[in-house]
Amino acid sequence: MTIENKIQTLLDKREEAKLGGGQKRIDSQHNKGKFTARERIDLLLDEGSFEEFDMFVTHRSHDFGLEKQHYLSDGVVTGHGTIDGRVVYVFSQDFTVFGGSLSETFAKKICKVMDQAMKVGAPLIGINDSGGARIQEGVKSLAGYAEIFERNILASGVIPQISAIFGPCAGGAVYSPALTDFIVMSDKTSYMFVTGPKVTKSVTGEEISTEDLGGASVHGSKSGVTHFVADDETEGLQLIRKLLSYLPQNNLEEPPLTECNDPIDRRDDILNDIIPENPNKPYDINDIIYSIVDDNEFFEIQRHYAKNIIIGFAKFDGMSVGIVANQPNFLAGVLDINSSRKAARFVRFCDAFNIPIVTLVDVPGFLPGSSQEYGGIIIHGAKLMFAYGEATVPKVTVTLRKSYGGAHDVMSSKQLRGDINYAWPSAEIAVMGSQGAIEILQGKKLMQIEDTKEREKFIAEKEEEYREKYANPYEAARYGYIDDVIEPRNTRFRIIRALRTLATKKEVNPPKKHSNIPL
Ligand code: HXC
Repeated sequence: MTIENKIQTLLDKREEAKLGGGQKRIDSQHNKGKFTARERIDLLLDEGSFEEFDMFVTHRSHDFGLEKQHYLSDGVVTGHGTIDGRVVYVFSQDFTVFGGSLSETFAKKICKVMDQAMKVGAPLIGINDSGGARIQEGVKSLAGYAEIFERNILASGVIPQISAIFGPCAGGAVYSPALTDFIVMSDKTSYMFVTGPKVTKSVTGEEISTEDLGGASVHGSKSGVTHFVADDETEGLQLIRKLLSYLPQNNLEEPPLTECNDPIDRRDDILNDIIPENPNKPYDINDIIYSIVDDNEFFEIQRHYAKNIIIGFAKFDGMSVGIVANQPNFLAGVLDINSSRKAARFVRFCDAFNIPIVTLVDVPGFLPGSSQEYGGIIIHGAKLMFAYGEATVPKVTVTLRKSYGGAHDVMSSKQLRGDINYAWPSAEIAVMGSQGAIEILQGKKLMQIEDTKEREKFIAEKEEEYREKYANPYEAARYGYIDDVIEPRNTRFRIIRALRTLATKKEVNPPKKHSNIPL
C-alpha cells in the first residue's frame, strides 16, 4: 500500500467515525431539535481547538449480535480543546450509536480524559445524551459507571466538573452528573430520573409524564438538581463557557483576573434610598447586586429554585466573587431547608476553588413550622453554618437590613470568621424582630391590659423602645461584631477595597482526614 493509500485510509476512517451511527440516526437527532455529539463540541470549544482521542476505539462485546455491529468511537467523543484560550477536557455522548449507551470501552474513554484532566489540572465538561448502561454488556457497563463515579469523587474540589444534560439521563447514570459541580439541562429535550415513568407507575401507581417527572423545569425549580435551564443546547453550551470565565483551572490556581473598566469608586445614590422605611416591606435584592458589581453583570445560579436566597458569580474590579444574598422579595428572605442547602453547596464550591464570597444579609430568621422541622431544618441550616465556618477564602459581609437570631450567626457573621463585616445604617442586628420580642418579654403584662386601644399603645411604645435599642447596627458595632457602618452608595468601593486587602489572606483549618459536615 502506498503512503497516499495509507493516508486515504486514515481519512476514510475519520469520515466513518464522524458519521457515528449513520446519517439516518443523525437526521433523527436533528429532527428532535438536538445536535450530534461532535456538533456540540464544536459549539462549546474555541474554533478549531478540539483534539480528539480514541476515535478508532470499538467495543469488545461478542454477545447479542454486537460482534456484527461496530461503530468507530463507540458512542462517545472525547478529547480536549480550549475555551477562551484555556484548556478543558470534554466527553460528549453520541446518541446515534446504541443510543449513547455506556459500554466497557465507552467508560474507559471517559476515564482516560478524566485522568488527563486531573494530571493537567484542567476543567472537565461532560455532555450527556444516553440510554444508560449498554444492556448487552451487562455488569461490565455497571463497572464502567462506577469507574467514572470514583473519578468524579476524587476530582471533586480539585478541578471544576460541569455536566450538560441534552437528552435522556436515567437510572444510575444520573449520579455522575450529580457528583459534578454544575449541571446544565436543555429545556424540553432532556430529562433526569433514577426511575422512569413506567417503573414509577408499576411500583407506586403514580402516572406521570417524562417531562413532569424529570424534565429541566422540574429540576430547575422543584428539586434543584440542575443549576441552569437553557432554552436550547446552543444556549446551554454558551452558559458553560460563561461559567468557566469565573473559575480557576483547578484548586491550586486563582480565578482569572479580567480587565475592569467600571470605576471602582462608582457611587450609586439610589442605594441610599433603596431600603423601605417600613421594615416589613420587601424590595428586590437584585437591584442592589446589579448596582454594585462590575458592569452590572451578575451570573445567577439556580435562579428558579429556593428563590429566597440568591447565589451566583460576579466580578469586582475584575476579581471573581461568589455572591450569596437573602431575597426579601420572596418569603421575606427567610432561611429554610432548600435555601440553606442551595447556599451551602455554593459556599463550599467557592471555598474549594479560591473564590472570595460576598454575602448580602437581609434575613428575618429561619422558617418556623412542622414541615421544616420534620424535614430536618436543623441539619440543613447547620450545613450553611458549617460551610461558612470552614471556608477560608476571603469573606466580606454587608448587612443591609434584618439580621435576626440564628440566621444572623449563619450568614457569614464575624464569629464564623467573617473577615470584613459591614452594615448599612438601616441594619437591624438582634435576637429577633421587635414584634416577637415584645410578645415574649411583655407577655404577662399584655394579658393584664384588657382595653384594646391601651394594649396597642403599650405594644407600640415597647416596640419603639426595643427598636431604638436593638434594631440598628450600632449595638453590634459597639462590640466589634460589625467592622464599620457604611453609606449604602459607597458599597461597591468598600467591597472592592476589602477584597483587595484580603487578596493575600492565609487561613488554614486544623489538619484532619476530612470534616463531618451535617449531610
Ligand atoms: C443498548 C440502547 C440502549 C441501551 C437505547 N439503545 N438504549 N442500546 N443499551 N441501554 C438503542 C436502541 O436499541 C436504539 O437502537 C437506539 O439506541 C435508540 O433508541 P430508541 O429507543 O429508538 O430511542 P428513543 O425512542 O429516543 O428512546 C430513548 C430511550 C430508550 C428512552 C433512552 O431507548 C430507552 O428507554 N432505553 C433503555 C433505557 C434503559 O433502561 N437503560 C438501562 C438503564 S439501567 P437502534 O439500533 O434501533 O437505533 C442503567 C444502569 C446504570 O443505566 C447504573 C449505573 C450505576
